[in-house]
Amino acid sequence: MSRAKTIAHQWLTTDEAMGAVEVPIPRQVTAALRGSTAVTKAAGSGRAAAAPAMQFRQFIPRPVPVRPAHAPPAVEQSTIAAPSKAASAAPGPEAALPPVPAGSIGDEPQLTRAEKIQRLAALAAEADKDLASHLSDVATRVVFGEGDPGARLMFIGEGPGLEEDRTGRPFVGRAGQLLDKMIVAMGFTREKVYIGNICKLRAASWDDLAKRLKDRPPTTAEAALGLPWLHQQIAIIQPRVIVTLGLPAIRYLVGVTENMGALRGHWHEYRGIAVMPTYHPAYLLRAYSPENRGKVWSDLQAVVRRLKEMDKDGSGAAG
Ligand code: URA
Repeated sequence: MSRAKTIAHQWLTTDEAMGAVEVPIPRQVTAALRGSTAVTKAAGSGRAAAAPAMQFRQFIPRPVPVRPAHAPPAVEQSTIAAPSKAASAAPGPEAALPPVPAGSIGDEPQLTRAEKIQRLAALAAEADKDLASHLSDVATRVVFGEGDPGARLMFIGEGPGLEEDRTGRPFVGRAGQLLDKMIVAMGFTREKVYIGNICKLRAASWDDLAKRLKDRPPTTAEAALGLPWLHQQIAIIQPRVIVTLGLPAIRYLVGVTENMGALRGHWHEYRGIAVMPTYHPAYLLRAYSPENRGKVWSDLQAVVRRLKEMDKDGSGAAG
């Protein structure tokens, strides 16, 4: 595939993930769409040809994977709170969060890829052991994180939900499927980034009204349990840019107190690493408006630009 077609393909994927209305169509893409049947086929019949004039289409979520027979009954559902509601789980003055390690990530020992792989594996084993006493019917395993140990780009969410607890992998439910699309739209693949969470254990509570367990934002105590592991993960991976997903993730990582509307779209910093907060994909699924999708896409584009700038000045090399 030529570069223009690749860009077009990525743009179409973006359209599918994020909606088209706010996304300006790059000139190369329009050109590639005009001249390419390959792109038309790749994107599905008729869609690419109509793309330049495309209007907002309703997002049709993929079906949730069928539960295995031994799985718990289908009474649970991810209900990660909208940014305004999530504020209730943010650290208050009484919060005893572990301190952010001193110094910049650049002060940490530079590790080879093999060392990163080895240290992450050792850290995951340590977390498994250390957090074992906190396992319960709700949180049945530690969801450590996964991806490229030398990733330049890291995504951080708040904590595993039902599907993540079941599989032991971060972001594999509906929100994870949308995150996968966002990653591809940015020109990466899931394997080329690292995906982690503030919390390594699922947080969910019984909802009396709904008569079911509901995933919820982590409490400060739960965040405090997960953060030491996350700090160490970041120190090993040493990503160039971090994207936080949702309000709890940016609040617990960076210690800010503003709401999501004020935080997103602006650069923050964690130990010298550029951090871009954006809406959680679960929130986006619930509030799938062109406006929200446009905001997330603009945040992600800022990240891609920043990584490209780092490549140009030589500071963006992968570890
Ligand atoms: N939401 C998160 O914040 N993290 C996950 O891993 C899954 C859903």
